[in-house]
Amino acid sequence: MTTLHSLLPAWRALRAHADVLSKAHLRDLVDADGRRYKHFHVEYADWLLDLSRQRISAETLTLLCGLARAADLPARIAAMFRGDAINVTEGRAVLHTALRSSFAGSAAIQQEVQGSRERLREFVAAVRTGALRGATGRPFRQVINIGIGGSDLGPLLVADALRHEWSGGITPHFVSNVDGTQLADLMRVLDPAETLVIVCSKTFTTQETRSNALAARAWITAALGADAPGAHFVAVSTNAAAMDAFGIDPARRFAMWDWVGGRYSVWSAVGLVAELALGSERFEEFLRGASDVDAHFLNTPFEHNLPVLMGLVAVWNRSFLGLPTLAVLPYDQRLARLPAYLQQLVMESNGKSTTLAGERVDFTTSPVVWGEPGSNAQHSFFQMLHQGTESAARPFIAPRTEYWGGPGAPAHARAEGFAQAQAFAFGMTRDEAETEMRAAGLDAASVARLAPHRIYEGNRPSSMLLYPRTSARTLGNLLALYEHSVFTQGVVWGINSFDQFGVELGKKLAGAISMSGEHPPSGCGADGLAALIAYVAQHR
Ligand code: F6P
Repeated sequence: MTTLHSLLPAWRALRAHADVLSKAHLRDLVDADGRRYKHFHVEYADWLLDLSRQRISAETLTLLCGLARAADLPARIAAMFRGDAINVTEGRAVLHTALRSSFAGSAAIQQEVQGSRERLREFVAAVRTGALRGATGRPFRQVINIGIGGSDLGPLLVADALRHEWSGGITPHFVSNVDGTQLADLMRVLDPAETLVIVCSKTFTTQETRSNALAARAWITAALGADAPGAHFVAVSTNAAAMDAFGIDPARRFAMWDWVGGRYSVWSAVGLVAELALGSERFEEFLRGASDVDAHFLNTPFEHNLPVLMGLVAVWNRSFLGLPTLAVLPYDQRLARLPAYLQQLVMESNGKSTTLAGERVDFTTSPVVWGEPGSNAQHSFFQMLHQGTESAARPFIAPRTEYWGGPGAPAHARAEGFAQAQAFAFGMTRDEAETEMRAAGLDAASVARLAPHRIYEGNRPSSMLLYPRTSARTLGNLLALYEHSVFTQGVVWGINSFDQFGVELGKKLAGAISMSGEHPPSGCGADGLAALIAYVAQHR
């Protein structure tokens, strides 16, 4: 039996609908329905999702919700929360929701999560109060998280976005890149005697993390003596044997589970570095924020379900309107790391071309994700978004409250976001451009010459996601909204959002190339590779 969702009647109906609707300009849609905001906004708690500038009609949403049902989304959501092995290629449950919601997973899993939470709370309190100290008796003031991918991007986003909520005098730092530059820069300025190092790696086999962890251990040993690393290192991993081999004290290990994917792991001990900076109380607000969204996702009809609607509109833009990229546009500098976080969440989850049953898809899946905070982005790539030949889906994400001082400035940032969304949607016609130029006093020849350059086609869709302010709770809300939106997209596409085999081949080849002194490259393309290696050997 085929599992290609493009063969579902609901998919075909949407295809036919898209053929018609894609000919309409957003201006036409507004002309046809002057109350689009009323008809296309959805509220959840203190969040607002305005879809009125998407190229959709009421029928689009009805058809998309129908497609979600035809793709079995209700049953798949229930299966995920129950803890069924929905990650079929790895035979694993997908239970990051159990890390924050008591209604997810089994009682046994809930007990493990609670046990882990208690240990984390105790450890965080001991470090922050100075009860736990380094090898020389000094309290810890700096903490370095060594990890990459999901063991870096989530805690980095949380720590960075909630900088205004740091307390307790612990400063977090992040080391991910195997080139060693981040660690080298930190080793120059940090005092090892007051530095705690977290080796954060679900597998503990990730080359980048191992290499940075060994360098950090050498730094601590050189400064404080051979016995010091025991007091300065903790680890978050599932791999006890590798932690033994590295010499991590069993009392300083925090659990991970195979039912939590790396990119979904910030809610676990992977978030420790952020929890140390924020304190457990704040961190648990972050968890509660996500839990609230879990309950909403699980219990709300699709037509009012924020993450489902976000996911369905994403599928519409990608697979039916053909928008190749997703430009993430947070209008809050605190969310500067959100685009990088979403790059992994979206693309590692749904950058797949094989269905659950092993067939090649015949439609497009994950968009390319990129972005920057507004208003900086307006002064770099917005030119292309307004007048370039490639379009993009573009979610605006903006706080509705002024909360970080600077009278007027936050309101101005938000106004800029609103203005950009309007300009993307409705553009400026030739008539309007000419009228504006004439009003500015340009002569007729200049007006005619410049008019083609001053036209904005518009019809470039965006969403507006408004929330009160960036806090532990709303950040928990936001990340859970995106997690469930990504899951929704994966279910509608019929793919497994929870494996990542695509990253394996590069890792294997990198290992082989590192050893190429002993074993010259072989296999397809060996000649070109040998030439590159020889070139570097000659010119390094
Ligand atoms: O290579 C990709 C990946 O496996 C991600 O999925 C993961 O978040 C990252 O590497 C880090 O993995 P680990 O936590 O096992 O070091």
